[in-house]
Amino acid sequence: MLQPPYIRYDQLYVYYLDKRKLPTFSDPDLIGTWIEDETAILFFHRPKERLIDRLCNDCGATIVYQADLNYQDWEAGVEITSFATRYLAVRPIWEEEPAPDPARRTIVLDPSVIFGSGFHATTRLCLETLETVFFESGERIRSVLDLGTGTGLLAIAAARLGVERVTALDNNPLAVDVARRNVELNGCAAQVDVRCHDLQNSLPEMNYDLVITNLYKGLLLQLFENPGFWQPRLFMVSGFIPGMEPDLLAALPAGGVRMLLRANREQWRLWLLEKRRTEHEQS
Ligand SMILES: C[S@@+](CC[C@H](N)C(=O)[O-])C[C@H]1O[C@@H](n2cnc3c(N)ncnc32)[C@H](O)[C@@H]1O
Repeated sequence: MLQPPYIRYDQLYVYYLDKRKLPTFSDPDLIGTWIEDETAILFFHRPKERLIDRLCNDCGATIVYQADLNYQDWEAGVEITSFATRYLAVRPIWEEEPAPDPARRTIVLDPSVIFGSGFHATTRLCLETLETVFFESGERIRSVLDLGTGTGLLAIAAARLGVERVTALDNNPLAVDVARRNVELNGCAAQVDVRCHDLQNSLPEMNYDLVITNLYKGLLLQLFENPGFWQPRLFMVSGFIPGMEPDLLAALPAGGVRMLLRANREQWRLWLLEKRRTEHEQS
């Protein structure tokens, strides 16, 4: 995350260590520590060889990979800048506030080094579909569960669109910190609760109107195959390409859901699914 004196991301210095538990340290140039499986990935604004050597010595870790790269390269070559959808205007924290746009609700974001700047096709599909659900479907959505929230953008968007109760989960502690920071930046902490939760280990409580899952195929399959997953009324599913659709379709509960929408952007797909209500639930 950006901490003073930094006001934007420029060059990133990245160190992959083969241990997830490191000694506690603080450094003014630290952007954050990303934990993935048994690896800790440390991001800095400046080179940190001496600090990294000391950390490795203290805990017996080894540098498995090291890189310095431009922020834009980290963001897949995309320049992270302001963008607008039909009802939302999203602005990175380093850009000046534009003149108010009465047609759109604003979101300010520190995307840090976390997925969810809004520039990936799957995030954009989710944002646009959220708007469709809210403004065009006639559905009343009071609660949203965002599984794999990344920067928290979709959870904040749901709050901005008027959802009273949003829960946002991620297993990456850096994503959780970034999402919490973004929730604060947008003044929606009363609506959005961000928590660290590994979906591979357990399902969270699923009593929500809409669940958003912009995840990878293996985790989507794991969720689909768990009967406890299918409690909400609506499911927004993304993070997959056409070649993955047959396996994912086969994992849907037979006769249990209806496809309301199938959307595409670049090579990515999104489904909006509705749970079929049982006779008991309809009465
Ligand atoms: C593709 S990103 C989506 C981020 C954001 N929701 C968006 O749409 O831009 C997937 C997110 O899921 C998180 N994730 C991956 N595996 C997870 C797991 N087992 N439990 C919880 N979150 C997970 C990742 O850390 C990442 O932030």
